[in-house]
Amino acid sequence: MTDTFARIAGIGAYLPARVMTNDELSGIVETSDDWIRERTGISTRHIAADDEFTSDLGVQAAKAALDDAGMTVAGIDLIVVATATPDLTFPATATIIQEKLGSDHGAAFDVHAVCSGFLYALATADNFIRCGQAKSALVIGAETFSRILDWTDRTTCVLFGDGAGAVVLTADQGPQDGQGVIKTHLRSDGKFRELLYVDGGPSATRTVGHLRMQGNQVFRHAVNKIAGSMEELAEMAGIPIEDIDWFVPHQANERILQGVARKLAIPVEKVISTVGRHGNTSAASIPLAMEAAVRDGRIKRGDLILMEALGGGFTWGAALARY
Ligand code: UT7
Repeated sequence: MTDTFARIAGIGAYLPARVMTNDELSGIVETSDDWIRERTGISTRHIAADDEFTSDLGVQAAKAALDDAGMTVAGIDLIVVATATPDLTFPATATIIQEKLGSDHGAAFDVHAVCSGFLYALATADNFIRCGQAKSALVIGAETFSRILDWTDRTTCVLFGDGAGAVVLTADQGPQDGQGVIKTHLRSDGKFRELLYVDGGPSATRTVGHLRMQGNQVFRHAVNKIAGSMEELAEMAGIPIEDIDWFVPHQANERILQGVARKLAIPVEKVISTVGRHGNTSAASIPLAMEAAVRDGRIKRGDLILMEALGGGFTWGAALARY
């Protein structure tokens, strides 16, 4: 008997039309294009329109992923949305997306792991497919972080942006061509909560709150924790890091993703970086980066890709897949 694999059948992404430059930000807070580029690699970020919600971004990315897979939503029986910026406290943004896509079957729910959310959602859907509870899944990372930023705090508001990315997973009896999610590795440790959190919520404050981050402390943890997770994952999968074709990191800061690559001796040409264009889009950033590299022809069918992320919680992890 062959094992069931979750194949990445399609990928899609969406960025809101409005682009905010570093120069524009320097008119809002005391910062400069030079500082932002040098410390983060970010040049621009996209900001959702007032009437554009996380679900709308997710729907656009999901439609693109379905088109890419040559499927319609009728063929999807699980929708998992990774978001820390849901449209509403409830219902889940996943059910809102389900309705906007015109589906009324299967199951839809959100997972909340902030910037690691896409990895958590991917691992969840992969396990649903492996155990036979779903035959196909839409995994969406969608965020409107612009709504939870303190636009007077230069240490955070220059870093984030809005966007969405999605993949379609389908059950495949592998390994015929070996394509699919190979292994995922998830970690969390709640004692780091004070380093990156939102200071509001329905139960604690009855407000939405704003993102607060001790950036340099997060930075310090990010490289080691992410690299450790990637090494453990590679060992569990029995695949050496040097066999990886593409490194698709969470797009938080150019210095972090290059730091991780250096630590694991991953050549710079194998690193997919899109942070400069859209900033940190939290759960959307991995599929946004992967989509860009698929579209420009770098990532090809059969390529081995290694994803990673660290976010509020802390949550962190890595995922290995053959595209
Ligand atoms: O996705 C979730 C995970 N999040 C991350 O991975 C983010 C991790 N952290 C980072 O990316 C970096 O720590 C930052 C980009 C947030 C900051 O870079 P840094 O090199 O760690 O700078 P710093 O926080 O140590 O600040 C250095 C200086 C400070 O001034 P003083 O105290 O040295 O006078 C800051 O006040 O830079 C100042 N500064 C700014 N200056 C101009 C902080 N933000 C700005 C700004 N413009 N926007």
